[in-house]
Amino acid sequence: MASAANAISLSASPRLAASSSSDQLVVRLQSPSSVSFRPRSELKPARLSVASRANRLRICATAAPVMDKAASPKVPTIVDVDLGDRSYPIYIGSNLLDQPELLQRHVHGKRVLIVTNETIAPLYLDKVVHALTVGNPNVSVDHVILPDGEKYKNMDVLTKVFDKAIESRLDRRCTFVALGGGVIGDMCGYAAASYLRGVNFIQIPTTVMSQVDSSVGGKTGINHRLGKNLIGAFYQPQSVLIDTDTLNTLPERELASGFAEVIKYGLIRDAEFFEWQEKNMHALMSRDPAALAYAIKRSCENKAEVVSLDEKESGLRATLNLGHTFGHAIETGFGYGVWLHGEAVAAGIVMAADMSHRLGWIDESIVTRIHNILKQAKLPTAPPETMTVEMFKSVMAVDKKVADGLLRLILLKGPLGNCVFTGDYDRKALEETLHAFCKS
Ligand SMILES: NC(=O)c1ccc[n+]([C@@H]2O[C@H](COP(=O)([O-])OP(=O)(O)OC[C@H]3O[C@@H](n4cnc5c(N)ncnc54)[C@H](O)[C@@H]3O)[C@@H](O)[C@H]2O)c1
Ligand SMILES: [Zn+2]
Repeated sequence: MASAANAISLSASPRLAASSSSDQLVVRLQSPSSVSFRPRSELKPARLSVASRANRLRICATAAPVMDKAASPKVPTIVDVDLGDRSYPIYIGSNLLDQPELLQRHVHGKRVLIVTNETIAPLYLDKVVHALTVGNPNVSVDHVILPDGEKYKNMDVLTKVFDKAIESRLDRRCTFVALGGGVIGDMCGYAAASYLRGVNFIQIPTTVMSQVDSSVGGKTGINHRLGKNLIGAFYQPQSVLIDTDTLNTLPERELASGFAEVIKYGLIRDAEFFEWQEKNMHALMSRDPAALAYAIKRSCENKAEVVSLDEKESGLRATLNLGHTFGHAIETGFGYGVWLHGEAVAAGIVMAADMSHRLGWIDESIVTRIHNILKQAKLPTAPPETMTVEMFKSVMAVDKKVADGLLRLILLKGPLGNCVFTGDYDRKALEETLHAFCKS
């Protein structure tokens, strides 16, 4: 389990085979990372960097003290997202908000705007203001507190950020700081991408969902009445600061919702990680700090690798959307915020697995393992009963993965840890899956 691997060193070069045709991309990890153990004396601040040249992937890593309960909490694990001159570090660890230097080194200019919401502000706003300003009298910090919820991830509420920035006369050298979950991160990122045609921003994600997924990779945006995340931009932060202690205040349902994305990484590209989760889901659900830190780190590594290879989602990055096409239909059809994003994705993963099995692409044992792990994580394994086939179809028709009228899906294919992004599947299987999960 987690603590046994306190000196993991990722020393291998996993070779990633990504072959693509016009509408199909097959992703396979040919040789999993090898793991070697080092004496404690060799441990240095963990640093992993992912470098990519075309389809080749190189990982250089030293140690992973995030797994080491005895390691100094002052030493963050660092996962680098390698995007040339837009590369940035993800700091992961306990107590990081008490290390002002980690934040201050990424602030450009003298003005900061923290974007947060009314739930998170009373918990962490003062702490973040302190971290930004202590020993740094030249920096002045403004904040804007948005209403809390997915239903406020829209243009009207986004305008409040611009209002505050303009009223405060923030110039191009300011820095926006997103303090909160995925909703705040997506909105603040989009505001930063558009304010004065782009200002610096830093992510401080405070939910599992945002720590393992939404804060990494530069996708920002807001919802439209007709669909989720339809308006947005690719815009990378200066840095991501993940203080795992913030998860101590997270409600249990939100915690579980984030695990849907963690499970997703295992299914699409990291069988070893999925197997680790099968053994450690109980520890994750009971917020074991070492297990949480390991799951966050491994998720960020997986996401960083994918984003480094395909920042603008020409193919490979789309595989991160396993379960999301069905899931977005649930979120839109059922009303934003009624089911959490991860809950909808969990049901969507089950539907994608069901369809993959109908196509004869995966064994039934994988379907069973998916059900079991989602149940352990207290996540749904079917869409809400009120969802109809028509509701799915109408929302899926405006999915961003529709190309030339053809809906492309991420489906599982082959042994555990393999998936395809394809429009080349038997339509009958999709119909059958929709009818199997909907009463009408
Ligand atoms: N940009 C991307 O690549 C990407 C990827 C995945 C998800 N997303 C987006 O992320 C959003 C979902 O993110 P989320 O699940 O973090 O939801 P969220 O931002 O709504 O946060 C969930 C709830 O937890 C509260 N909260 C946050 N941190 C807390 C803490 N530490 N303690 C107590 N309460 C806390 C929030 O106020 C909110 O009520 C969706 O809008 C989704 O589209 C984006
Ligand atoms: Zn998601």
